[in-house]
Amino acid sequence: MSPSDTGSIREFLRAADLTLAGLDAPGVHLWVARDERGRIVGSTGFELSADGRHALIRSVAVDPQQRSAGSGSRLARFAMDAARQRGVERAWLFSRRSGPFWQKLGFTGADRGELASALADTHQVRLFVETGQLDREVAWSCLLTS
Ligand SMILES: CC(C)(COP(=O)(O)OP(=O)(O)OC[C@H]1O[C@@H](n2cnc3c(N)ncnc32)[C@H](O)[C@@H]1OP(=O)(O)O)[C@@H](O)C(=O)NCCC(=O)NCCS
Repeated sequence: MSPSDTGSIREFLRAADLTLAGLDAPGVHLWVARDERGRIVGSTGFELSADGRHALIRSVAVDPQQRSAGSGSRLARFAMDAARQRGVERAWLFSRRSGPFWQKLGFTGADRGELASALADTHQVRLFVETGQLDREVAWSCLLTS
């Protein structure tokens, strides 16, 4: 994603009801998929912990018209592979609604306190702690090294 994509990615993520905070923070890596007309139809990304051992997968979304065709899984795997290639040992994420989707990709339920401690310095965790949203979230994690 380039800086000029910020407006359109925000609009796309807002429509998918995902967190917009900190999208341009230094440890956040985001990618978008576009259709032949250049319209954003998918997004994926992660935010790294300061020690680089943990990644918070975020912003995985597919255009509603194109869901249930495997794109979401491909985008999620892309972020997991990119994190693994950077030496990340464990991927984490928050998801209240899409648990079964993440379970198919190897994620299991995790302790949100452990997530918050592994990724304490990330923008999204700091925001969720400050606003109290952390207590309402459901955490998931997946070991990337095998
Ligand atoms: C979650 C999301 C990315 C899945 O995208 P998708 O393109 O439909 O995903 P896939 O086609 O790869 O689906 C893979 C499987 O997960 C299932 N699945 C997808 N979304 C699901 C959900 N919200 N709850 C339960 N199962 C889900 C699909 O039915 C499919 O199962 P199948 O292989 O047995 O048919 C998409 O629904 C989305 O953009 N949701 C809004 C944003 C969001 O909640 N993102 C996740 C939090 S970061």
